[in-house]
Amino acid sequence: MLDTSDEWITSRTGIRTRHILDDDANASDAGAAAAAAALRDAGLEPADITHIFVATCTPDSLCPSVACLIADKLGLSSTQQPRCGELMCFDFNGACSGFLYGLELARATLALHPDAVVLLVGAEALSRRLNFHDRSTCVLFGDGAGAVVLRNGGGALWGVRDVSCCSDGSFHQLINVGGGTSMRVRAGDPVPDEFFISMQGREVFRHAVRCMTAESKKMLERNGLTVNDIDLFIAHQANLRIIEAVGSRLDMPEDKIFVNVQKFANTSAATLPLALDDARAQGRLKPGMRVLLATFGGGMTWGAALLG
Ligand code: UT7
Repeated sequence: MLDTSDEWITSRTGIRTRHILDDDANASDAGAAAAAAALRDAGLEPADITHIFVATCTPDSLCPSVACLIADKLGLSSTQQPRCGELMCFDFNGACSGFLYGLELARATLALHPDAVVLLVGAEALSRRLNFHDRSTCVLFGDGAGAVVLRNGGGALWGVRDVSCCSDGSFHQLINVGGGTSMRVRAGDPVPDEFFISMQGREVFRHAVRCMTAESKKMLERNGLTVNDIDLFIAHQANLRIIEAVGSRLDMPEDKIFVNVQKFANTSAATLPLALDDARAQGRLKPGMRVLLATFGGGMTWGAALLG
């Protein structure tokens, strides 16, 4: 299909495989599967949830939200559930930083509503916006979803200690995912190129390294920590070279840096929850460990968080 090679993709990005949704599945299906797994893991029932927040830049449609669709797929309708009218569902677009932004939304919600049970999902169907004739983007992204349950109280595996969310909209042109209402499409028109993902890769690379490094350092400093206090560092999984560059600027030992971009490619808002789950399955992430998260994405948006 493309003028590329396995050697180019692997050496420039570290990506070996990527996952593509079945034709009849959407971000909400992947999100609902991740949500059900997270609930099982937390020993909770769907009816326990009070809030569903979905980070996505590739929703099934502009309306309704993926969060409402996930609620439906989990069997949460107002006629069947005791919590009628008490389930807040919405999507938000923090691009690749969405999941980390969602941690801050969840923290704020739990501060306001101490009994809340927040289901935070990152779900993406990026393959639906890939131009498979554009070698500079189509090899980089995959579909995926991950979910976590957040609530107050004891018995938690990890606490969300601190989160910082940053953005600079003057760089909005660096990454674009089309299909919004700025596209003037009439019935019968051919699909224009702007429908698909476009990216200024080299510039994004530069900003991603700079922003994730700076924000990680700030996060450590403001919590009185150094890299020695961190058990695991998980950065947004877009490119192995970006992760390695950030790790080396932080003087983070290699064995503390988690990488799974080789398996899933860049799944945008889903990379961090997929990595948390994968790290846990591999025994690299154990309850109580101190974890530093860093992220970067379109907008441009970036941030860091401390779990432990
Ligand atoms: O989630 C946040 C958003 N995404 C990212 O964080 C991605 C950030 N950027 C990157 O990961 C890298 O910039 C890329 C992987 C996109 C590109 O790697 P690079 O080392 O920065 O390559 P480049 O853009 O400087 O391109 C080098 C060459 C170019 O050819 P010329 O102009 O030197 O002749 C490209 O046309 O590589 C060419 N190229 C490819 N060749 C083979 C670009 N894509 C491909 C490809 N196969 N798939």
